[in-house]
Amino acid sequence: MPNAVYLKDYAPPACMVSHVDLIVTLEANRTVVTSTLHVTPGTVAHEPMVLNGEGLELLSLLIDGKELAKDDFTYADDLLVLNRPPQKPFTLSVVQVCNPQANTSLSGLYVSNGVFCTQMEAEGFRRFAFMQDRPDVMATYRVRVEAPRSMPILLSNGNLVESGKMPAGSHFAVWEDPHPKPTYLFALVAGDLACVKDNFTTMEGRNVELGIYVEKGKEDRCDWAMTCLKASMTWDEERFGRAYDLDVFNIVAVSDFNMGAMENKGLNIFNDKYILARPDTATDTDYVNIERIIAHEYFHNWSGNRITCRDWFQLCLKEGLTVFRDQEFTSDLRSRAVKRIEDVKTLRARQFPEDQGPLAHAVRPASYIEINNFYTPTIYEKGAEICRMLNTVLGAETFRVAMDLYFERHDGEAATVEDFLHCMSEVSRRDLSQFEKWYEQAGTPVVDVTTRYDAASREFSITVSQHTPETPGQKEKAPLHMPIALALFDTHGKELELNTKENVSLAGGVFELTTASASLTFRDVADCPVLSINRGFSAPIILRSDASEADLLFQMSKDSDSFNRWEAAQTCGLRLLVDAYKGTSVDTTRFADGLRNTLISPELDAAFKALMLQLPSEAELTVALAVDVDADRVHAARQSVLRQLGRTLDNELHLVLANRPNSNKYSPDTSSCAHRSLRAAALSLLGYAAPFRALSISREDFTAASNMTSEVGAIGSVLSLESADVDAMLQSFYDRHHADHLLLDKWFMLMAARATSSVQVAALTQHKDFTFNTPNRVYALLGGFTGSNLKAFHSADGAGYRLVGESITLLNAINPQVAARMANSFRSWGRYNRVRKTHATAVMQDILRHKGLSNDVFEIISRTLGS
Ligand code: TRP
Ligand code: ZN
Repeated sequence: MPNAVYLKDYAPPACMVSHVDLIVTLEANRTVVTSTLHVTPGTVAHEPMVLNGEGLELLSLLIDGKELAKDDFTYADDLLVLNRPPQKPFTLSVVQVCNPQANTSLSGLYVSNGVFCTQMEAEGFRRFAFMQDRPDVMATYRVRVEAPRSMPILLSNGNLVESGKMPAGSHFAVWEDPHPKPTYLFALVAGDLACVKDNFTTMEGRNVELGIYVEKGKEDRCDWAMTCLKASMTWDEERFGRAYDLDVFNIVAVSDFNMGAMENKGLNIFNDKYILARPDTATDTDYVNIERIIAHEYFHNWSGNRITCRDWFQLCLKEGLTVFRDQEFTSDLRSRAVKRIEDVKTLRARQFPEDQGPLAHAVRPASYIEINNFYTPTIYEKGAEICRMLNTVLGAETFRVAMDLYFERHDGEAATVEDFLHCMSEVSRRDLSQFEKWYEQAGTPVVDVTTRYDAASREFSITVSQHTPETPGQKEKAPLHMPIALALFDTHGKELELNTKENVSLAGGVFELTTASASLTFRDVADCPVLSINRGFSAPIILRSDASEADLLFQMSKDSDSFNRWEAAQTCGLRLLVDAYKGTSVDTTRFADGLRNTLISPELDAAFKALMLQLPSEAELTVALAVDVDADRVHAARQSVLRQLGRTLDNELHLVLANRPNSNKYSPDTSSCAHRSLRAAALSLLGYAAPFRALSISREDFTAASNMTSEVGAIGSVLSLESADVDAMLQSFYDRHHADHLLLDKWFMLMAARATSSVQVAALTQHKDFTFNTPNRVYALLGGFTGSNLKAFHSADGAGYRLVGESITLLNAINPQVAARMANSFRSWGRYNRVRKTHATAVMQDILRHKGLSNDVFEIISRTLGS
């Protein structure tokens, strides 16, 4: 049984390291790292110094130039312990060897496509060199990289201070980073890469050289990333007053990467999927993701690097805040209304199932076994929601002042959530002690709303009550402090003034709920109004209201908050889906009328219309059904509702599809993206009602497509239709694009979503282009299967579970982080009916019996099983 780490056990390190000098001699299977650490002893005398090291060969160990005696240290169980470190400052010199070629876990130093690169977060540095591998040890770094001249590009953090030739066809470069940083922000890259350069002058007048390094021949796919980088730099100056602080900012794109990207100081490393874009290779979604992730990593320079985390329990301090910042960036650059809806969709699709299942954990967890398992939607997305609520409670202006204080006060420090909240409460003079529970309490709060109108007294009252269901290891839940934005509308859609009998302050239309239950009575209300509540999704909760269908339809067309317009449609849609699942007769006419009004309103944004046309997903329906779910019936129910809607909206859908947008001139701007997304949504809905017509439009779109969005949009919209035409389009997509690894990923993803059974997916794992070694390929095929093909993954015979189970045990030996991510796909197993649950349990128990199971997979599967 692996050991857990507890927040309550936090203790500062025995020694501090102020400076690290490295000489790295790169060789694929034997890289020698010579490190010199400048160590200052802590206050506790004679405490041993503990360094981490995993799978390293130790060649020599010296203190102040003198070799250590055998009994002065031990190296066992991934720890190097110096028993009696000097009581005054000293230097520790270590020579160690690692094997990047053999590193398939993509943590530490590894080789991707002939390029040496590093991924140190969270605990990868220890696989590269001995070090106190924890974020509260911050040092300046000087790095000398040595490599054969066949790898002309040698990079590390900070500024280049020296470079030159060495004998025997080698060369070197020396990089210096003046900003103290923890190990996890260290980076090193070497290879034969192409570079696209630009520059940026900061508001402080600093001229920054920008570089994007990619595989040779891909230089023409960097323009968008560069544009996004400059936009991010400008935005952080304007919106948060944050300027960049080095003379160089480099980004490197690599093909093998566990996650999206990494914010290493001055040297971000990216999954190339989030850098490379050209109209004929990247979709609108890719363009927007590139924009978002470049911004996210860049924003980390302040929220993460200048101020880092004291320990990994504070992960949300940098991730939640940085996601909030990147969400605001996208909102400012594109459409705030649409972005909010998309973010809530992501939250519901990814964070809600986590928070309402066996893997539920607090935004600041109390313990973990493997920290890599905590880069979750809860830490990121719910963490961002907490920052958003603070922004709402404090008001944008005060929030900004508090942010300034935070950046100023904790600059150069490894901080905690308390430090952050302290700045928030100090500036606002508000007591945030109850608010703090958002960080500690797991689970999605449920808020029930009931309303009552009394015509005689002209009073409208609402009662709001909250409770958070119990989560694993956390039975008792306290009421949370949550901002609930609300408005009342009269029958004409006019917003009413909010005068409460209780004289509650509703500044900005926000009610702050702090108790388990609260009531508000509004005075002088002439007619029974329509309540719009949790507007803009002001709190990340499940709202259960007694709103009638008529109220929802009213909100769909009249609510002045576009989020709640969409939300009303989702609620309506979900009710229809649940009825269809239960076999109750379903009448979609009125809902379809509402959608029709949306579709024909010229003033509405096309992207908003597209979102309105998308019904809640099968996953959302599954969550709504709660228990004993049959995946086949979920699929069938959704199909039948979509078919009815498609039939009723036939005319309007044709109107949308009538003229194909001129696809010759591609641009990823907001309005062009919006029109393409509406077209795809309309085509997809038409597919359920009129498959033949939809297929013929799809084929024409596919043939005429001059950009990747239209190509994928054409196939994607008809993916679930039984037709050889779809298979033919997929084959032609493969023939055209199989030489491009990112397009191959798209093909695998589409194939996985289309598969009618796991047998086809199993066959694809044997395809000559499939490999378990590249995370993107695994995420495309197996992630596409478990995420977009619930019917086949959750098939009653258990074959889907077994395929994924076998893949997890295979991946376990190659890359535990990726294996653990795939293991997450079992998180909702408990919602399904008995046959399915029995199969899922058997597969998970098999995984737990596997010899050599990593901590990563062990933790996820054992928690998922609840054992
Ligand atoms: N800190 C990174 C981000 O959010 C993500 C990250 C954490 C990561 N661990 C990683 C990326 C491991 C790749 C591999 O931006
Ligand atoms: Zn991040």
